[in-house]
Amino acid sequence: MYEQVSHTLLNDILNRIKPEISKQDLRHFYTRLGANFYGIHSLFQRLYGDREDFEEQAQKLVETMAYQYIKRPKELRALDLEREKDYNWFLSQQWVGMALYCKGFAGNLKGLRERLYYFQDLGVNMVHVMPIMRCPEGSSDGGYAVSDFRDINPEVGTLEDLQDLAKEMRRRDILLVLDVVVNHTSNQHYWAAQAKAGEKKYQDYFYCFENRNVPDMFEQSMPEVFPENAPGNFTWDEDMQRWVMTVFNDFQWDLNYTNPAVLIEMINIILFWANQGADILRLDAVAFLWKKIGSTCQNEREAHLILQLFKDCCQVTAPGVVFIAEAIVAPLEVIKYFGEDAVIAKECEIAYNATYMALLWDAVATKNVRLLNQGIKNLPVKLDRATWLNYVRCHDDIGFGFDDRSIVACGYEPARHRKFLIDYFTGNYENSHARGLPFGLNPKTGDARISGSLASLVGLEYALETEDDAAIDDAIKLIILLHSMIMSFGGLPLLYYGDAIGTLNDDSYRDDPFKRGDTRWVHRPSIDWEVAEQRNIPGTVEYKIFSEIKRMIAVRKEIEVFSDFNNRELLEVENPYLFVFGRNHPQRANEWVLVVANFSDRPQHLNLEELGPWGATQRPLVDLYRGESPDIFKRSLVIPRFGFYWLAER
Ligand code: GLC
Repeated sequence: MYEQVSHTLLNDILNRIKPEISKQDLRHFYTRLGANFYGIHSLFQRLYGDREDFEEQAQKLVETMAYQYIKRPKELRALDLEREKDYNWFLSQQWVGMALYCKGFAGNLKGLRERLYYFQDLGVNMVHVMPIMRCPEGSSDGGYAVSDFRDINPEVGTLEDLQDLAKEMRRRDILLVLDVVVNHTSNQHYWAAQAKAGEKKYQDYFYCFENRNVPDMFEQSMPEVFPENAPGNFTWDEDMQRWVMTVFNDFQWDLNYTNPAVLIEMINIILFWANQGADILRLDAVAFLWKKIGSTCQNEREAHLILQLFKDCCQVTAPGVVFIAEAIVAPLEVIKYFGEDAVIAKECEIAYNATYMALLWDAVATKNVRLLNQGIKNLPVKLDRATWLNYVRCHDDIGFGFDDRSIVACGYEPARHRKFLIDYFTGNYENSHARGLPFGLNPKTGDARISGSLASLVGLEYALETEDDAAIDDAIKLIILLHSMIMSFGGLPLLYYGDAIGTLNDDSYRDDPFKRGDTRWVHRPSIDWEVAEQRNIPGTVEYKIFSEIKRMIAVRKEIEVFSDFNNRELLEVENPYLFVFGRNHPQRANEWVLVVANFSDRPQHLNLEELGPWGATQRPLVDLYRGESPDIFKRSLVIPRFGFYWLAER
């Protein structure tokens, strides 16, 4: 949009711009800057307009974008242009992701490059390599405490290794997802070190206070993220003689975005990683970006403005790169991280669907879909050009942060139901074979979240130990059922490394003094590639899981209606054990798939007449996943225990 004030400022900035920038051919950069500058200016003005050095900061921001554009490799600029034309590229059903720790999966970046065949064998073509930036030895929150935003953790390799990996992935059409930890740094980062040394400039990069007055005020309304290991939100720093805000662990210092220097540094860092060849950047802990006294310091309006600035600036320099919002918050709040607009994502194109993940686990524990249905009904409709990251398991804990009203609507009492879930997944409930561990137990509220690998949570560990073949079979069925749910729901399915070969809990973290206190390490395994080889040997558990997931991915890629065009209709049926939804083609009425999943341990039936137009089929139905006819008696569809169908007309 053209607007006089911002346009005048842009002209002034361009007149003053350094000759090393102005003499370059930056045609595409300038057209995008012109298109986005009104937005950038108004956001920057909203956040920092009252500062005397506002124009100077705006100049710096534009120069930062320009320098990174100049450094952007030719092939990535070409990819930007391609994706500008094919702007819905990330909504396609062709993408299937996997998240992994480089060290646990393959030792290091070179090893990861050598194992790319594993993804191709399975059909995965988007790989999220979790934090690999330099971080302190010892405690680093799994790399989420970064000590150098522009270097790689020497344990896994070098920047050159990463560039090689990125190139090789591009050659094989595999997308690279990298993390940018935007909310905090490690206490060993250069900025923190300078702050400790008394540098005022860098103390302003963080929230530092000489006494407890302001921290105590904040604490009144701020919840605790890690109540067990890191109670409170501030840490006393002996060197600095100040309290510093540390929302997560005491070694993770929250960045102060009321300072524009921090914002510009972070935009520079985001663009730096875009230029290393990342296709997608996962922005960590975005709900926490802005702190306000008297609030929970989560989901603040300004956090969204910061994300909009990240997006606007990235679109100018590296428009082919999309963002994932890691915001594990209530559905009504999550949806805002796409950016409130009519069509396009103004903040992050992709967001973690933690609601769906937690609801699926509720269905596993209760063996019915009452809360799942209720929760999905309450999931707000999202923008057309934005999508979910659907997952069963990730490197973090599983939290049951459902809305109390939804729980009540299902006839449960909220506190009791949450307690049941915790008991169920920690194996403290009759007939539960789950082997989860509590995480973040809050003695004040009794609340806890759950750690544990997918296989151990669905009872595979128990079943193998007791050599109970029927229980092994059930656990495998559940693993497949849960994957079928993330593959068909709409959005990008994100598998978790180890899950496709049934990796169990790994207790070895207890021997490491830096990991011992954090049960999430129980599900962050080191892959044993000899065991993984079993995936090629028929009859093994690894084979059974791997081959089914492999087939599922291949079939998903063939089903165009599994693309995400907001084309899902939840079909609530009478049978409380069946989760049913339809996926239709936005243009072609005769293309659709009916997804039916049975979460109970008994076979269930569904009267197709109940489904209205979705059940009024003309031709016989076929289950696309198995390529077979489902069992139908008269108009009743029969779904085996823990079974599912992807149904279409023959
Ligand atoms: C995100 C990460 C989590 C980490 C936290 C703090 O939630 O997924 O692993 O502990 O951010 O960086």
